[in-house]
Amino acid sequence: MRNFKNVTVIEHPLISRDLSIVRNKYTDTIGFRKAISRIATILAYHSLKKLPLKKKSIETPIKKTTGYELDTEVIVVPILRAGLSLVDAIINYIPDAKIGHLGMYRDEKTHEPVDYYSNLPSGIDRSLVLLVDPMLATGGSADDSITFLKKKGAGNIRFISVISAPEGLQRVTQNHPDVPVITASIDEKLNENAFIVPGLGDAGDRFFGTQ
Ligand code: PRP
Repeated sequence: MRNFKNVTVIEHPLISRDLSIVRNKYTDTIGFRKAISRIATILAYHSLKKLPLKKKSIETPIKKTTGYELDTEVIVVPILRAGLSLVDAIINYIPDAKIGHLGMYRDEKTHEPVDYYSNLPSGIDRSLVLLVDPMLATGGSADDSITFLKKKGAGNIRFISVISAPEGLQRVTQNHPDVPVITASIDEKLNENAFIVPGLGDAGDRFFGTQ
């Protein structure tokens, strides 16, 4: 496996098991959704590791003591559609996180992303922005999304994907060396149709049952 700067591959037995479930073409929609959600929970946990904290006074039933609360706002931005599959896992940890949406699909011939929708909450300049998409293939969608978020003022972005192609990681880390990438797998390569090999097919179609 190649090493990329600022890319963290999360290794865990449950991820190995669940990646095998989502890669398996015989896994049905229910199985796919459940496994993606479990992977997302582990990726979310790791991507939230270095959140700043501030102290606050709390009272246990026994005495006053020092507690902590998060010292940053969090905005989750799924790249539509497939990115929606990773949102719940983050919201479980940070129930007051705001959610922005970026709509993008990949042109089947050029393989370049086409954006069709965006809706971002305010406060992006002072928030940790978690951009999420289960697939990083050519990297076009992630690259364009990060550029868009930066233009809107985001200065603290992390990108979470389930499986990543080396080609996509090369593009994103080269164009955005300041953006940490958290992924569950670096796959072998892209094929001639820019699909990730071995990959898992089309995450959006499999998650939403539209294949
Ligand atoms: C897939 C995937 C990423 C993108 C990755 O979306 O979910 O958004 O392609 O490819 P890239 O790295 O080469 O840009 P798709 O176009 O299938 O849309 P969908 O999420 O609506 O299924």
